[in-house]
Amino acid sequence: MQFSGKSFFAFVAFALIAFILYTSSCKREPVYIGSLDPYVPDPVDTTPPPVVHPCSPDSVYFTQDILPILTSNCAMSGCHNVQSHEDGVILNNYTNTRNTGKINLSSPSNSKLYRVLNMTGGDRMPPSPMAALPTAQRALILKWIQQGALNLTCDADCDTTNVTFSGSVMPLISLKCQGCHSGSNPGGGVSLTNYTQVKASVTSGTLIGSITHAPGFKPMPEPVGSYPLPDCDIRKVQIWISAGALNN
Ligand code: HEC
Repeated sequence: MQFSGKSFFAFVAFALIAFILYTSSCKREPVYIGSLDPYVPDPVDTTPPPVVHPCSPDSVYFTQDILPILTSNCAMSGCHNVQSHEDGVILNNYTNTRNTGKINLSSPSNSKLYRVLNMTGGDRMPPSPMAALPTAQRALILKWIQQGALNLTCDADCDTTNVTFSGSVMPLISLKCQGCHSGSNPGGGVSLTNYTQVKASVTSGTLIGSITHAPGFKPMPEPVGSYPLPDCDIRKVQIWISAGALNN
């Protein structure tokens, strides 16, 4: 194919604009959230294995409660993964979060990790077009710091009796997926913020394909911590789908 002078110029201009848009993404005002760099394991993860406890409703567990929030809202490429480390902050595992999140144990609500969640305008994290963290997740991060910002994991039995959309499926999507799948520019154009949207991805077959990392489905970027999901989560979603994916 031959380019005429004009169309060649238009092509070069287009490529230049695309390049500028691409390189300016996710500095302060990201154009696109959750880019698709292949996952590179953190070479400097010195986190010792967490202490495993039976789950108590009074404690906040870093592995179950906090890490999924950080990996799905903060530790993506262009933001706070190891490679990008915006503002020197890396939120992909316990050690890096403790070392770079400016956590203040003597005045928990003054911890930078918590304060930025409540800021307004361009200083808020996660930045627009991502949505602000839900109030419950912000409160959980504060409670985790108040309890000493410890590296705790708890061992819950996988309870698959009474699996419902509101009690089992939506809480897990809200914790582990909505960071990228909400707001005005959701990952892959897929929003997962309510029943209708989640049901649409059940109907298209992509929900289960994406969480089980089945071949043929677009892989989730940055699988740190959350992907593939723990078997227990996958089982709950499967049970809910087999029972008709009801809005219950
Ligand atoms: C770090 C950001 C991020 C997180 C967290 C995330 N996703 Fe995604 N997801 C994406 C991106 C980006 C795409 C588009 C991938 C592409 O276009 O290749 C995508 C695509 C999808 C798709 C479409 C797949 C297809 O083959 O069409 C579904 C369904 C999906 N995600 C579900 C989920 C679920 C369920 C979770 C939580 C368990 C989740 N995602 C967590 C970023 C994310």
